[in-house]
Amino acid sequence: MPNRATEAATTDKTPLQQEIDKRLTFAIISHPDAGKTTITEKLLLFGGAIHIAGAVKSKKNARQTVSDFMQMEKERGISISTSVMGFDYRDRTVNLLDTPGHADFSEDTYRTLTAVDSVLMVIDSVKGVEERTRKLCEICKMRKTPIITFLNKFDREGKEPIELLDEVEAELNIRACPMSWPVGQGASFKGVYSIYEKRLILFKPHDIQNVESSVAIENMDDPLLDEKLGSLADRLREELELVQGVYPEFSMEEYLAGTITPTFFGSALNNFGVRELLDAFVDIAPAPRAQESRERLVAPDEEKFSGLIFKIHANLDPNHRDRIAFMRICSGMFERNKLYHHVRTGKTFRAANPTAFMASERSIVDTAYPGDIIGLHDTGTLKIGDTISEGENIEYTGIPSFAPQIFRQVINLEPMRSKQLNKGLEQLTEEGVAQLFIKEYSADKLLGVVGMLQFEVIQHRLKEEYKASVRFEQADYGGAAWIEAEDSRAMEQFMRFHGNHVALDKDEERVFLYRNRWAVSRAMEENPKIRFYFTSDKK
Ligand code: G4P
Repeated sequence: MPNRATEAATTDKTPLQQEIDKRLTFAIISHPDAGKTTITEKLLLFGGAIHIAGAVKSKKNARQTVSDFMQMEKERGISISTSVMGFDYRDRTVNLLDTPGHADFSEDTYRTLTAVDSVLMVIDSVKGVEERTRKLCEICKMRKTPIITFLNKFDREGKEPIELLDEVEAELNIRACPMSWPVGQGASFKGVYSIYEKRLILFKPHDIQNVESSVAIENMDDPLLDEKLGSLADRLREELELVQGVYPEFSMEEYLAGTITPTFFGSALNNFGVRELLDAFVDIAPAPRAQESRERLVAPDEEKFSGLIFKIHANLDPNHRDRIAFMRICSGMFERNKLYHHVRTGKTFRAANPTAFMASERSIVDTAYPGDIIGLHDTGTLKIGDTISEGENIEYTGIPSFAPQIFRQVINLEPMRSKQLNKGLEQLTEEGVAQLFIKEYSADKLLGVVGMLQFEVIQHRLKEEYKASVRFEQADYGGAAWIEAEDSRAMEQFMRFHGNHVALDKDEERVFLYRNRWAVSRAMEENPKIRFYFTSDKK
């Protein structure tokens, strides 16, 4: 099995390349309750980033109601410190980016996925593939992000392993490649056989796995297997034979291309199977990859620094309009206090106090490398999608807006304060809380989101931070598509029929708002000269 990290250490590489090869920047995707918080905590424990279980507070209970969510938001420091969790494991520097997954699901979650090089997908083996996982996986597939899968909660009676793998393959359109195989399930769960390491790992609840809990078994005929598993040994032999016949063998190339997903079984709560997962992850997960810009593909080992702003936390303190912009380093070495180029405005950019995020603390950094995420204090000059460079006018294209699915019309309740409202809407949409669309004919303002709770968050924040009152009115749309045509007559024709449902986005790009899939399919059929796109970068 290839091991990227050791390869990096032994070959003759520049210091920059060595730093790049050490980095592993990823996010965990899952449906609420699948075990993301639990597994994050175990990973941080292994990484030595925290020392006691319970340090990563489950946000689930705190976020069940909107008012609790608002309270959480007031203590935004919390969400910031868990936005990026850095830790060292073996010889790699791991950056785990948090993807808000519960009630606060928003476009922010999608966007975070554009700043990682791979993802870990956690699936609840009792419930199987769920809706949120499906959506997030779609984004990863779109970006060809490599995915490792962890089938969690094997200590509970759930779906059969084969049934789960079939579901992953059918629903997520990716081939599963089992790297381990469970022995029993629920009450009879005995452990897993690691196909990857050729070891049998025996289940002991809540144990930090150590060498004694696993034995090397290279050959399935080894009588040690019978000694350890009794009557379950033969069943494992049969199942493994079947697995070899049905599922593809691990191929680094296919994993990196996002066509197969190496799959592990375990129980995060019992800390079982997590270390194997982390070890394999550190072995195979990709180092920072080249990033697409409008102009060209930018390799991480290019000498000149460049970075991409992918997330902004605004109004940390409502009295000062301060914000933290999160930048992913894409190429070269970033240096504190150095004069850089802010591509969109053409102005000089200097970071005096760039912050790095280790799991439980933040610290000022002097340098950062591709794959690293740093926080920049900003007074309103940076926007999501901005590129900072060492002079070159490159614009990273990795941050499309994804078509929202829920829409509301904004009704201003205090017309005297429309200036504040506009400012608030502008800043909150810049932060990525929602997308603003202004209807071309009526100038009605519509907000589009991917998670319902965002409307209440926006209403609350407009009131608190901008002293603007709004009400939202139902807008009967279920989706949006960016539209374009070379033939201006085709567009005129389209506007004649559908103009009432066409709005402009923040970049004044035309967007067709539609009621349901059927309506958009029909519009597409009837207007073959119009191109429809479901993300703003028109892919
Ligand atoms: P999330 O962040 O993806 O939403 O999930 P989280 O880790 O909070 O886990 C959701 C629930 O599932 C929690 O139980 C957690 O203890 C449980 N869980 C996680 N991994 C496993 C596992 O391997 N086996 C079993 N049996 N349960 C698991 P809860 O009762 O809802 O919350 P809590 O009171 O335990 O915090």
